[in-house]
Amino acid sequence: MSNSPTQIQLIQPDDWHLHIRDGEVMKDVLADTARQFARAIIMPNLKPPVTTVALANAYRTRIEANLKLLGIDSFTPLMTLYLTDNTSADEVRKAKAEGIAAFKLYPAGATTNSDEGVSDIQRCYQALEAMQAVGMPLLVHGEVTSTEIDIFDREAVFIDQVLDPLRKDFPGLKIVFEHITTKQAAHYVRDAVTGEKNTIAATITPQHLLLNRNAIFAGGIRPHNYCLPVLKREEHRVALLEAATSGNPRFFLGTDSAPHAKGAKEAACGCAGCYSAFNALGLYAEAFESVNQLDKLEGFASLFGPDFYSLPRNTKKITLRKQAQAVPTELPLGDATIVPLRAGETIAWTLV
Ligand code: DOR
Ligand code: ZN
Repeated sequence: MSNSPTQIQLIQPDDWHLHIRDGEVMKDVLADTARQFARAIIMPNLKPPVTTVALANAYRTRIEANLKLLGIDSFTPLMTLYLTDNTSADEVRKAKAEGIAAFKLYPAGATTNSDEGVSDIQRCYQALEAMQAVGMPLLVHGEVTSTEIDIFDREAVFIDQVLDPLRKDFPGLKIVFEHITTKQAAHYVRDAVTGEKNTIAATITPQHLLLNRNAIFAGGIRPHNYCLPVLKREEHRVALLEAATSGNPRFFLGTDSAPHAKGAKEAACGCAGCYSAFNALGLYAEAFESVNQLDKLEGFASLFGPDFYSLPRNTKKITLRKQAQAVPTELPLGDATIVPLRAGETIAWTLV
């Protein structure tokens, strides 16, 4: 690709990690995602969590109803189930038979609505055995939850204490290390030895490619830049950008766009989550352009995700133009509002 293109064409991307919530607010956030992406992996951390195939099917029906209200017929939600200490091997086999895309492991207490998550991974071994047997991917929120471990170290410690032992016990289990934030995670995934069939991948968010932890404290506390796993030092951002733009198919796009109303973020104990769905592709294009690797964006955004999930690649094309797009200071979110990532500023790339 030429040094500084002003327009790029890509196969339409998918978002391999997304929160769209439920009820009144869903329609507002779904519209932003469906404008850009063909499919998205829908996170199951509702209240109560989506722990069974029946709950996932009901959630899918509510999503489809909202898509219909929006007049959108070009977007497919890929449903996931929330793993608990009690998930049975039968539920895993049923999920596979009914087209559930993956299970999500939240260590209990790690993040938003994770209280019913896994208290000890050993309790899930029968379910994991079944996932390995049927080829059901496990999506992992990779942080230990012990409050004695420094919050900036929880991902790196998770690799040693949980992820690596898990991969040794289940070498055939497909794992996506979600929203990685550290050099350790990027290198772990890059260097992992697998059998002939690759079994490990990682998603990376736009905020972790564009921001380091200073962004949470720039001139005062910035709750809209707070998410989990929390932003890390610059050396980690650089390692993530290197991984994302390396052309290695183990790294692909997952925004982790996680809407919370303005009031829930700007609070004494504000919720974790960045709302990046408004112009996520523009943000990713900025990140790739910053290291002159725009030609690597299509693999990361549109090809490696479906390949890992053994789903067909999209065929439609989209165009991104280098044209600054203003980001509103607030967007509607049901009866409330939400402050998107980059609010009140501009994003250098716009979806045509
Ligand atoms: O920042 C986050 N927000 N990280 C997560 O893992 C969950 C998400 C949410 O659901 O709000
Ligand atoms: Zn998430």
